[in-house]
Amino acid sequence: MRKPFVAGNWKMNTDSQSSVNLAGGIASGSSEVAGRGVDIAVFPPFVYLPSVIKALNMANIAVGAQDVYFEQNGAFTGEISVSMLKDVGCTYALCGHSERRHVIGETDELINKKVAAAISGGLLPVLCVGELLEERKASQTNEVVTRQVQNGLAGLSVEKVSAVTIAYEPVWAIGTGLTATPEQAQQAHELVRKLLAEMYDDQLAEEIRILYGGSVKPENAAELMRQQDVDGSLVGGASLKTDDFLAIIQAAL
Ligand code: PGA
Repeated sequence: MRKPFVAGNWKMNTDSQSSVNLAGGIASGSSEVAGRGVDIAVFPPFVYLPSVIKALNMANIAVGAQDVYFEQNGAFTGEISVSMLKDVGCTYALCGHSERRHVIGETDELINKKVAAAISGGLLPVLCVGELLEERKASQTNEVVTRQVQNGLAGLSVEKVSAVTIAYEPVWAIGTGLTATPEQAQQAHELVRKLLAEMYDDQLAEEIRILYGGSVKPENAAELMRQQDVDGSLVGGASLKTDDFLAIIQAAL
């Protein structure tokens, strides 16, 4: 049985006060369930990681970074390494979020290096994949998702890949209010799980958690979570509102 996992991606939002308030609200509102029935993580902006970790005050909520660089240290102005994130108390890192792929221009090859570096340094990567609207309209969803999973995990052994969480986030559903139907989500998740079984083995495919992301809200979270291969959600906009995020956590139980 895969334990549900609900993650909040705060993106480039909050400030020093509101990030701490949000973290405190999530910690107190989820204390009965956090880590027990459901794993919870938040992904604040880099600069607020230490204060958010402090505000969570040992609550059973993990913290992750929205991105990470693959080099260990050195002349890479503006980048943040795996060891820096570990040093401040991060457990996870998003790799290949669609905004990094399509706004910043990250390639599958770069994302693969980030996933590999995260695992080697002891961070758990959340590899994000998902098709653009024009790709879905052109019936290329399976092809795009397959390519992103294969390339994102290229060269990694089965042991290493067991550290990975996959997030399927159709780009047309992110921040648009358009959610994939539960059937569309299930189809993509099933595709990813079958692919993992082909690339590695059945046991790994059964164990890896695949989250759905893209306009998850309290109103649609439970139905998405009911799908067989949907193991949780990666929540953007709704994770900035304490009550909405707590309601999505409840829906995962
Ligand atoms: P959204 O974002 O919930 O605001 O659509 C999801 C994400 O980008 O992870």
